[in-house]
This record gives sequence, structure tokens and C-alpha cells, in this order.
Amino acid sequence: MPTICDIADLQELARKRVPRMFFDYVDSGSWTESTYRQNQSDFSKIKLRQRVAVDMTERSVATEMIGQKVAMPVALSPVGLTGMQHADGEIKAALAAEKFGVPFTLSTMSICSIEDVAKHTSKPFWFQLYVMRDRDFIGRLIDRAKAAGCSALMLTLDLQILGQRHKDIRNGLSAPPKFSINTAMQIISRPRWCLNMLSTRRHGFGNIIGHVKGVGDISSLSAWSAEQFDHKLCWDDIDWIKQRWGGKLIIKGILDAEDAKMAANAGADAIIVSNHGGRQLDGAQSSISALPAIVDAVGSDTEVHFDGGIRSGQDVLKAICMGAKGAYIGRAFIYGLAAKGEAGVRQALDIIHNELDITMALCGERLLANLGHHNLLDPALFSSR
Ligand code: GLV
Repeated sequence: MPTICDIADLQELARKRVPRMFFDYVDSGSWTESTYRQNQSDFSKIKLRQRVAVDMTERSVATEMIGQKVAMPVALSPVGLTGMQHADGEIKAALAAEKFGVPFTLSTMSICSIEDVAKHTSKPFWFQLYVMRDRDFIGRLIDRAKAAGCSALMLTLDLQILGQRHKDIRNGLSAPPKFSINTAMQIISRPRWCLNMLSTRRHGFGNIIGHVKGVGDISSLSAWSAEQFDHKLCWDDIDWIKQRWGGKLIIKGILDAEDAKMAANAGADAIIVSNHGGRQLDGAQSSISALPAIVDAVGSDTEVHFDGGIRSGQDVLKAICMGAKGAYIGRAFIYGLAAKGEAGVRQALDIIHNELDITMALCGERLLANLGHHNLLDPALFSSR
């Protein structure tokens, strides 16, 4: 077993353990992948101020996100097909998150259903919603999340239409999926993954199959979802979703200060600055470069969360210094899951926690609440003012 020091080590192990089509699904962006790469590379432009001879005892990175206590300001992003990275992947990741004390978000396009995850976990998780044309189905999905005790609804606004991902097309991960000698080879070259997948009956989109007429298996579902994402979704739709849900609402996929104001006015408890991990509009700015203007634009009633390019505790700290109340990890926990199941997600969380804690200390801070622009060498970097 290789020594694991950071998220990149988990990424390499995941690459070896999971069929290429599922590894690439996560490890890629749309078109030229320029936004995907920039999400990470812009973090390295931000320099931290080192401070010395400061009492660093009794440190804590614990805080709150949307009024819920978190062991660190990190939540697990919703990731479609998580259950194809490891058997029962959503349940495993949710268990790791609840034991650690951070929120897990279940994707609409998950393999394990809302009810399944609720049944196998003991703390409330968050549910991410894609809006589809079949509003009756969406209404029932919201009701199911409520009945399962989910403590926040995360509405994604940046995926009414799918950004093209070249790797998915080349690997045959399309709608409907294309099976070929190439895909068969990808699968049989990962016998450990095959055995692991044989240990579960959960292989379809659990939230959808059996809940929508005419969708019986994964291929009819692919055709259904390709035509079902609602191209007409607009701000006016938020109200009925908010009313039907009746709880904490997080709006995900905001990259523009004007949109941030619209989301705050629509009654979001939090917004997530996000370009969908560089998977949608290639050529859009990096998430971290969008953060300062959005923090300036929204009032204090709406929390600003951050998603995109986080691979370390240093990245989390930088986002917090720039005004985010919390940050999301998607790929970082998926690499852990694909590499080692629940233990790998735990390891990813431990790595990020440790990096965040030590980095905070070396910046001369003991409490997360004390972090701010003063910890950055160039606080005006990415500022729109
Ligand atoms: C879905 O959220 C995706 O980016 O594939």
C-alpha cells in the first residue's frame, strides 16, 4: 500500500483502482478544461502571511455552516455516480462525513437513494436538487428529502444543459452509455473494483428508477435525463421550490455578483460560488477569483460558501480568508472513496483538517473566526474594486 500524505496521493491510488470511465468522469472538466485547471492554479497565486512567536495552543477550526455545527468549514459536494466509484459509495461517504462532523450532500444523480442513505446513517445530510421538466417528480423528490430528514436543500442552477466533457465521450460514458471492447477492457482491468461492485445491488440512479414512469433501467434513464433537465428554469421558479421545501435553502452555481444578489433576493440561506468544478462553462473565471466580488455583493443575511479547486487545507484557509463561510470538496473526497471506501473519505477529511489546522497556526491564528484578509500577502488579489 503506498504512503498517503496528501490528496494527490489518494488521486493516484484512485486512478489505479477504478475503471477509467469513472475515474475520468470525476477527474476532468468540459471542453479544453481551462477553467477546471484554473480553479486549482489560481489558489497558488494567493500567498499567505507567515507570523511567528504567536501562542498557538488551544486551536480550533470548528465553526458553523447555515447554523449547523461543523468540525471544520468543509462540506462534501454532491457528486453524481458516487456509487460507481465504490460499492454503496454515497452511504460510505455519508458515514465518513457524519463521523467526522461535516455535512454530506447527496446528488439527485446518486446511485444510492435518499431513503437508502437515510436508513444507513444517523445524522441528517443535505440533498442537492436538479430541476427537471417533470415538476411533479421534482415536487415528490423535495418531499422525499424532507421525509428523510435532510437538513438543507441545495439547488443547482448551473446545469440546465450539460457542458461537453470530451473524456466522457471518448470513454463511452454518454447518454445512453456506449458499450464497446474499450469499455469492457476498462472494467475487466480493475478486478478489485468488479468484486467490490458485485457486493452491492445498487447500480442504477437510486433517486429516479422506480419513481418515474417509463424509466426502468440505466439506459432508459440516460435518455430520460438527457431530455429532462429543464432549459426553462429561471429565478421565478425558486419560490415554489422554497415553499415546497420549507427549510434551509442553498443555491449552488453562482459565479457572478449580479446573480449572487438575485439568489440572495430569492431567499437563499447560503449561496455557493461555483463553476461546477470547471465542468460547465469552459472559459469562465476560476471560482476563487470570483469570490471577493460576490462576498462584497451579498448582504450579511446570506452566507457565501465556496466550491472549486480545493485540494488541501491551505486552499480551504485561503477561501475562508477571502470571505467564504465554508468550502466544499468534491474530487478530493471521491479520490479517497475510490481508493479505499469509507476509510479513504475519512483519510481525505483528516488530511484536509490537519493541513488547515497547521497552516492556521503558522499564519499566527488560533481560531477560524480570526482569519481574514490580514492573513493574505496581497488582499486585493482578485478583488473587483
Ligand atoms: C453532474 O453534476 C456533473 O457535473 O456531471
